[in-house]
Amino acid sequence: MSKKIKLKVSIVMGSQSDYKIMKLAEKTLNKLGVLYETKIISAHRTPKRMYKYGLNVEKKNIGVIIAAAGGSAHLPGMIAALTSVPVLGVPIESKKLRGLDSLLSIVQMPKGIPVGTLAIGEDGAINSALLAASIISNTDPQIKQKLKNWKALQTKAVKKVPK
Ligand code: RP5
Repeated sequence: MSKKIKLKVSIVMGSQSDYKIMKLAEKTLNKLGVLYETKIISAHRTPKRMYKYGLNVEKKNIGVIIAAAGGSAHLPGMIAALTSVPVLGVPIESKKLRGLDSLLSIVQMPKGIPVGTLAIGEDGAINSALLAASIISNTDPQIKQKLKNWKALQTKAVKKVPK
């Protein structure tokens, strides 16, 4: 019997400075037992690295890409243009516009090249990992179960009355 290949998540971000947020995605994937790799790729500072990554990502058992970027945040859309692996975009809070520029750049992709867009910052990073795990769980019953447990624990943690 052939061994089933475990799909991985690929986390990419535009700068080292994005990692303080994106390590929350790693932490969440760790809790769910999802395999991942993490890379720094900038669409404007390392365009050749981005191009090479986008063209080769399909050969590496990557089921979902999480792409995080701040400012005019073209990284998720550019990567989505290079591959058919689904791309989830995480807008990183920018210094000047508090991430609104990042959010709009990522969410307002013109038709033809979709990027699934999450919330700005920490919530987006955590939710990108949960959503990536959920996509991978379509072919991985163990991860599906872990996601169910996660939700059950979350529900249990909500008290019925305030103290
Ligand atoms: C973007 O520019 C990165 O994704 C980062 O959020 C932002 C600022 O980068 P640094 O100046 O901190 O390297 O490319």
